[in-house]
Amino acid sequence: MIDFQSDYSTWRENCLNAWQNCTPLNAIKLKNPDQLDSAELEQLAHQCQTANFAIYQLEPESNTRAAIPQLTRYFGMTRCEQDEADHTITELRNIPMQGDLASAYIPYTDHRLNWHTDGYYNPFEQHIRSFLLHCQQPALTGGENMILNHELIYIALHDEDPALTAALMQADALTIPANVQAGIEVRSAQTGPVFYRDPHSQRLQMRYTARTRSIAWKQDALVAHAAQRIQTLLQDQGVIRHTLQAGQGLICNNILHGRSAFTDGNIPDQQRLMYRVRSYDRLFDQPLNNDT
Ligand SMILES: [Fe+2]
Repeated sequence: MIDFQSDYSTWRENCLNAWQNCTPLNAIKLKNPDQLDSAELEQLAHQCQTANFAIYQLEPESNTRAAIPQLTRYFGMTRCEQDEADHTITELRNIPMQGDLASAYIPYTDHRLNWHTDGYYNPFEQHIRSFLLHCQQPALTGGENMILNHELIYIALHDEDPALTAALMQADALTIPANVQAGIEVRSAQTGPVFYRDPHSQRLQMRYTARTRSIAWKQDALVAHAAQRIQTLLQDQGVIRHTLQAGQGLICNNILHGRSAFTDGNIPDQQRLMYRVRSYDRLFDQPLNNDT
């Protein structure tokens, strides 16, 4: 493994090349989600290990929720987060909501979802290191995903001034205030770095949200400048934009992502339905084994 700090220039070169090699974006076709072959696995693993993401495509007959658990096992997502209903697979669809509720639960609406990494509000020991987003059914219009490998943001900032990345690696760079609902604290405040070295894999991970409400950046000129630069860099042409089609899934090492607003049609075949799984493991972090 090439280290992002001790061998920065080689690591930087590899990251930039890997991202460039992803365009045009090609979905990796998986013939049978219950039995991925070694060529499919190697292709997926290579892209995830170099560019931090991959997009796969299932055949129409295997585009089912039942395909997801076996896929996540193949991808190395062993330890998965459970949602409020104790499920590891969360269904994302537009649920009409009003006012504050809608702004608090944007993933469950048809609104635009701003740039973030998943679980930025989690305690450090529960940081999300990878996720899967599988499209059962796209919307009638919209719902475009935007993705950018967070390593490219690190590189842009570091090239500008290494003090900027150092500022964002401070343990108190970003605080998400406690979530208090009806006077009850449902989640405590979480303070942590924006960029950090994953203690298990030693790879670079990011904790970020572009939201401006209910978020407290460290009062520090370098942190403020770096945060502003990130906003600008996220407008960059390096961003990959792709609307997931039925049977396609995005898997990534929790890279930066967002989603445009969408409009559902009147019939179920025109109503967006995504399955999401979040994991505490990085993708393909374990040796490949297609016998599992
Ligand atoms: Fe997300």
